[in-house]
Amino acid sequence: MGTGTLRVGIVGCGRIAGNHARALQRVPGVDVVGCCDPDLARSRNFAATHGIPQAFGSVDELLALGVDACTVCTPHPVHEEVVLAAAAAGIHVLCEKPIAVDVAAADRMIEAADRAGITFGVLFQRRFWPAARRIKTAIDDGTLGAPTLGEVSVILHRPSEYYSADAWRGRWDTDGGGVLMTQAVHQIDMLQWFVGDATSVSGFIRTHTHGDHIETEDSASAVVTFASGATATITATTGANHNLGNRVTVVGATGAIASVLEFPEGREGVNEIWTVPGEITLGTPYSPDVQANLDVADVNAGLTDFHTLQVQDFADAVLTGRAPAVTGRDARASLAIVAGIYESSRTGRVVDLRAAPTLVTTKETR
Ligand SMILES: NC(=O)c1ccc[n+]([C@@H]2O[C@H](COP(=O)([O-])OP(=O)(O)OC[C@H]3O[C@@H](n4cnc5c(N)ncnc54)[C@H](O)[C@@H]3O)[C@@H](O)[C@H]2O)c1
Repeated sequence: MGTGTLRVGIVGCGRIAGNHARALQRVPGVDVVGCCDPDLARSRNFAATHGIPQAFGSVDELLALGVDACTVCTPHPVHEEVVLAAAAAGIHVLCEKPIAVDVAAADRMIEAADRAGITFGVLFQRRFWPAARRIKTAIDDGTLGAPTLGEVSVILHRPSEYYSADAWRGRWDTDGGGVLMTQAVHQIDMLQWFVGDATSVSGFIRTHTHGDHIETEDSASAVVTFASGATATITATTGANHNLGNRVTVVGATGAIASVLEFPEGREGVNEIWTVPGEITLGTPYSPDVQANLDVADVNAGLTDFHTLQVQDFADAVLTGRAPAVTGRDARASLAIVAGIYESSRTGRVVDLRAAPTLVTTKETR
């Protein structure tokens, strides 16, 4: 890590912000100097819990504190206004996933960050799992060969209270999507990190289980094509009664298969399947003895170590002037796939991702 002290503020003091506070406070050279939330009582409470010196009710007050960087933990449709405000003030930003809820917003954020010359990173902490990095390395060094086939499986359980507890969840205007936008975007990010540039997508979204509480999708199936000629499928739901976690699998040009499985959800991903000759692993993770339907707070807590690694990478990127591990442009790619699936489900057509820079995900487009 570079030398110097980075004064950081946290924007949005809800569920995931605790991971940010804990992660930032573990990184040498980083001082968490303030936080903000329109719910001032929540902001103060969060500051007291995490030993943060100043608590505010608005982003402007936090940015005026003279922070070098901020992390963004607001609902997704609010990411853009915070990133634009930070860029305008010359403040570096690490924003939670998804980067935004429509591709045009992501483009405005990337352009504003470029113009301001700030470091702009987006949180996809699962990329820091050693098992995920092992697959990426094996693709890059030829051990697996270029991926020919990919598979994303996100089979999750969410109780109805998950959606009813926060008014913004499950609504097109305040959440921008359902299981694809909020949960599977992590594995879609990993898929395209492994396989490369996606060129088209077709798919279907449905609301089968949580329709009494949400208007966005709780289930989706899709097919993605890539510039390399590879293809992949995506299956995602939050409507399962038993949580099977998340899995990303690739088959390489050598024929070898590699997967990274997160089970139970929120635990570190492992290479459940690895069939490079001489290094065969074939896991059997599921057992009735494993408590699979964890609370979301427990899921988030299990990811803190990897938030820490990404925060550390971001702080080093700011202090040394290099690009962060996951840039705004990297994060735009997974959003484009998600937005493309919504568009495909609405129109019944295959969506060309290279020709669709302004996909939107408002209620009117459903
Ligand atoms: N990386 C991960 O694994 C992970 C996990 C959970 C959530 N997230 C992401 O983090 C973001 C927040 O999710 P959450 O579960 O913490 O939501 P949450 O509802 O628990 O918290 C959001 C907070 O943002 C505050 N807020 C709203 N508008 C604001 C504004 N203009 N300025 C400052 N604060 C504002 C809300 O009052 C609330 O306290 C989402 O984008 C979500 O996708 C990422």
